[in-house]
Amino acid sequence: MKALVTGGAGFIGSHIVERLLNDGHEVVVLDDFSTGHRHNLPEHSSLSIIEGDISNYDTVKQCMSGIDWVFHKAAVASVPRTVNDPVGSSLINYLGTLHLLEAARQNKVKRFVFASSAALYGDEPTLPKLETMCPVTLSPYAVDKLASESACGMYSRLYGLETVCLRYFNVYGPRQDPSSPYSGVISIFTNKLSHNEIPTIYGDGEQTRDFVFVSDVVEANMKAVTEKACSGQFFNIACANKISLNHLLKTLCELYEVELNARYEEARQGDIKHSYANIDKARTLLNWSPSIDLKEGLSRLI
Ligand SMILES: NC(=O)c1ccc[n+]([C@@H]2O[C@H](COP(=O)([O-])OP(=O)(O)OC[C@H]3O[C@@H](n4cnc5c(N)ncnc54)[C@H](O)[C@@H]3O)[C@@H](O)[C@H]2O)c1
Repeated sequence: MKALVTGGAGFIGSHIVERLLNDGHEVVVLDDFSTGHRHNLPEHSSLSIIEGDISNYDTVKQCMSGIDWVFHKAAVASVPRTVNDPVGSSLINYLGTLHLLEAARQNKVKRFVFASSAALYGDEPTLPKLETMCPVTLSPYAVDKLASESACGMYSRLYGLETVCLRYFNVYGPRQDPSSPYSGVISIFTNKLSHNEIPTIYGDGEQTRDFVFVSDVVEANMKAVTEKACSGQFFNIACANKISLNHLLKTLCELYEVELNARYEEARQGDIKHSYANIDKARTLLNWSPSIDLKEGLSRLI
């Protein structure tokens, strides 16, 4: 197959590229390198890299020629950045998705996989999170993800384009950038510990997250292009586990063989206390389930 991976130079996208190349597929990466890096991508005869912006429709059309599968990962993936610039980020996070869907329809793409997010559940207190829950959009990021999911569903129903939306919870693994205070907490903690620095926890550390290792996310993407029954659907992609930040740090300290306590600071405004997923729908229709537990994933990362 020939696959287009938008955001292929980023954290999750680059792992999808690697898997596709290993499986013998031809890959086109479209990335503007705003947060992604060329060094995340291998030198490979079946890989072409196009530097460009998904908010430019002509660029998107050029990349879509002859494509069978689209893995759409490109986005302004930082919630605070979308809060600071709701219009600019929407041109990428929503209009960019629409450009890709339309170019995919014109080119008779076989499957279109969209990277959605657990941010859609907002601060809705019910746990675990189920796909049937009503979304609560607390940021421009969440609004754009919801609008993009809605557009994917519409392209399936109206035009027959086969789309699948994957709602990632907290993805972690190699190549995740730890540089921003809003990056994935695991990349921040491992970065601190590997430099013998003390990590900061905002709040009491008993807040929980549902962490999923990047290779499991890659596998979900592969299922999304191969499983028949998942077209037109959206799925939670997580481990269905509640892991507190205190437990996470304790596990990391054991793996690094260090003893330390976190620095505790006041809880950040807008941070959600608990988040974990029901993944029965993905198990049934996507034929997917996670295979890497937290300790195994952290060991691989370290
Ligand atoms: N990492 C997570 O835990 C998580 C959770 C939920 C959803 N997601 C979603 O998964 C996707 C990938 O996230 P990630 O963590 O790998 O982030 P990332 O920042 O590492 O990757 C995003 C990639 O998109 C590229 N990009 C950004 N704007 C672009 C544009 N206008 N045109 C072309 N390329 C552009 C960046 O350069 C980067 O390579 C995103 O859509 C994100 O919203 C991630």
